[in-house]
Formats: sequence, structure tokens, C-alpha cells
Amino acid sequence: MDKFVIRGGNPLLGTVRISGAKNAALPAMAAAILTDEPVILENIPDVRDIQTERKLLMSLGAEVELGYGRAHHRTTINCKNLSTNPEAAYEVVKTMRASTLVLGPLVARMGTARVSLPGGCAIGARPIDLHIKGLEKMGAVITQEHGYIEAKTDRLKGAQINFDKITVTGTEDLMMAATLADGETIMENCAREPEVVDLADLLNKMGAKIEGQGTSTIRIKGVSKLHGAKHRIIPDRIEAGTFIIAGALTGGDLMVSGCDPRHISALLQKLEECGVKIRTTGDGVRVMSDGNLQAADVNTEEHPGFPTDMQAQFMALATQAEGTSIITENIFENRFMHAQELVRMGANIKIEGRRAIVRGKTQLSSAAVLASDLRASASLVLAALVADGETIIDRVYHIDRGYENIEEKLRGVGAQMKRIGEMLPKKMGVPVAG
Ligand code: UD1
Repeated sequence: MDKFVIRGGNPLLGTVRISGAKNAALPAMAAAILTDEPVILENIPDVRDIQTERKLLMSLGAEVELGYGRAHHRTTINCKNLSTNPEAAYEVVKTMRASTLVLGPLVARMGTARVSLPGGCAIGARPIDLHIKGLEKMGAVITQEHGYIEAKTDRLKGAQINFDKITVTGTEDLMMAATLADGETIMENCAREPEVVDLADLLNKMGAKIEGQGTSTIRIKGVSKLHGAKHRIIPDRIEAGTFIIAGALTGGDLMVSGCDPRHISALLQKLEECGVKIRTTGDGVRVMSDGNLQAADVNTEEHPGFPTDMQAQFMALATQAEGTSIITENIFENRFMHAQELVRMGANIKIEGRRAIVRGKTQLSSAAVLASDLRASASLVLAALVADGETIIDRVYHIDRGYENIEEKLRGVGAQMKRIGEMLPKKMGVPVAG
């Protein structure tokens, strides 16, 4: 397994370019299931979850071309010859929960789908009951056995769906399903994340009739057929936020280019409260810091609130801020695993249920630490950038799921960081000794 070795102490200076959003690319790829014509997606990030989704779509009978570099990070997906009994197997779903995004599109287009239940994951139970309830409302007959959900229908019909709880992939899954339903679907209490809007924009290019994306109420008039389309994926706001915190934390002057500041306004406001200078430009965000940071409290919320996917990275910053920061995690019940690793590096953090109390500023010292999930790994990288000495982060495959070439990007702006251990598995998922 690969490890990162990071020597802290350098301020980050220069420009870093943000990749396409993993969480927008994954549902966009699943949307290709809805048509028998090719869907071309640009600005696809070069991360492991995209390879997993490609494998999943190919196992369903899709042709998926994926090219990076000169090919402009582009994928062309052709779902002309999908299997008539499509199944998303446990082996794939267990490695990536977002695999459940194929459920809605498969039932809508093929009238049948068999998808493994995702099971537990590092940050909490994360059920998909709301996806299932919504599909049932649209007339699908759902059975559950041997750890799989099976959904069947002749044709989905439009329905009134009120989400008991706001769910991002649930909103996306049912929105995709409703595009091919008979009649109108009205969904209330929807997720308002930029990735939901991006997916609706793609679906509308494919011939869907969706209104209200980005608000709590989405209306979808079903059509009988969707067609192919070309679409550019929005920039990754979580990758952007992670680099912005890296600039702030290290006392740097960093231009985070290619991101959309409107997608991260809650984070930017919070950082200004901490004393970080933020300038938004036509091309992104410039972050300037003298390293003197003030504590601030954070509550994670659904968009447009402070994102849970930035909570771990903010905690790394809070260890370097003067005063006490209280970080409350409202979305997932078990998302503080990074705290113990930060404590091993010298941070003063106490966990009380959903609250983390971080007392700063503490000098972090290098240690061997373990990445436990995607965003937790990012927080350890951030902490290592300001720790004294050489930090070794193990299990970096978590970070490879969602950050494109993080070590090259950080090195490009002055970090001392290298990857050691096995090479290649990052992209192919194949362990190779080395
Ligand atoms: C998405 C993001 C993930 C982010 C999360 C919250 C993708 C691929 N992943 O995950 O990075 O951390 O949003 O912003 O976009 N819930 C239920 N029943 C359901 C569905 C969800 O109870 O059927 C609960 C979950 O357990 C959780 C909350 O709702 O407590 C929010 O989860 P959800 O928005 O669905 O997260 P994901 O879409 O899986």
C-alpha cells in the first residue's frame, strides 16, 4: 500500500489548478444509462472512484472510453447494449457507496435492476431507505434478499416525493429515475448541492424536463426517451476547499484556480472569520495568510451550509488557530476518526458525541498516522504540512479515491511530499509490488 511522506514547514506559494468534481462526475456517468446514445463528459477527474464507476458501468454492458491528459479528461459512455438483467455486484458497491446511483436509472430504462446494499462504512450507517421509498412511490416493486435490492416495474410513474431527510445521492437517483417516468414527479426537501444542479443540467441537455434544481423543490416532467449529450463537469469544490485551507494553514499565498467561489461561500466566510484573507477572482480564489489564525465554531449542514466533506480539513486548521473551536458534525454520526490521529500528532481535541472541541494553537509534531476515509486523509495531509519533521501517512488509497495527483499538485506549490511504496494501483486498483 502506498504511503505519503511529508516534511512540514513550507508556506504554499503559487497557483494550483482544480480538477472536475468527483461527486458530480459519478452521477453524470450513471445518467448515461438513461439513453441508448453516447454521452460525452469532459473535465472528468483522474481519481480511483471514476475507475470504479467505469468498471461498474462496463459490468452492466456499457462501453466506456476514458482518456486523460491530451484527451482532456473525457469519457464517452455508450449504453446501447445494456444487459437485460443488470446487476451492481457487492464487490463494486462495497468499495464505493455512490454505486447505488445506478439503481434509479436502471429501473427507469430497463424496468429491472439488482443492486447490492452498500452496508456499513467508515463514517456511519448510511442507509439507502429514501432511494427505495421514492422508487416504490413511483410504482417500482422492490424486494430485498441476500444483501441485494431488486426493483421491477413496467414503467415508472410520476409521484409526489417528500424526502424525510435531505440526501444528495437520493435526490440524484430519484431525479434520474423520474426523467423517464410517465407523468410529473414533484420532489420536496431536495438536496441543493451544486452537484445536483450539474446533474439536472446534463439531464436537460439529454432531453429531460427538470425545473427547480438548486432549490428544495424539483419538478420533473417524464419523457419517453432521452438522447445523447456533451457536458462539462463542474470543478471540485471540496478539492478547492482543501487547497484553500492548505494555503491558509501554512501561511501561504496561493491561487486556487479553476474553482467556483459561489460553491464554497460558507467555507470562505468561515476562513475570513479565522483571519484568512480571501480574494475571489474570475478564475477562482486567492488565499493569503500570515499564519496567525483565530478559532471559529463550525456546524456542518446541507448545502449551502458548511459541508461535512470539509469538516476534517477544517479541524486540521483549527489545531493551528488561537482559541477554542467547536466543530459540530450534523450529517454523519461517526465522522471524527481523524481526530485521534491529529491528537497523535500533538493536537488538543476532545470529542463529545457530535461535537469536537479543538483547543489551539498546538505545535504539531510528525508521526506515523493512518488514513481512515477520504476526507480524513486530507486532514492528515494538511496537518503534516505544518508539523515539524517527517510525517508518514499510511493507506493513502483513500485519498486517491477523490483527489487527483494531490502530491504533484502540492509539490508544485512548494510542499515537500513524496509517495512511497507500490506504484500503479492508484489507477488500476491492481496491487503491484514495488
Ligand atoms: C453525498 C456525497 C458525500 C457527502 C454527503 C453529504 C456523493 C457521491 N457523496 O453522499 O461526499 O459527504 O453527500 O454531503 O455525492 N440518509 C438516510 N437514508 C437515505 C440516504 C441518506 O438516512 O436513503 C442519511 C445518511 O445516512 C446521512 C444523511 O442522510 O446521515 C446524508 O446522506 P446523503 O446526503 O445521502 O449522503 P450521500 O449522498 O451518500
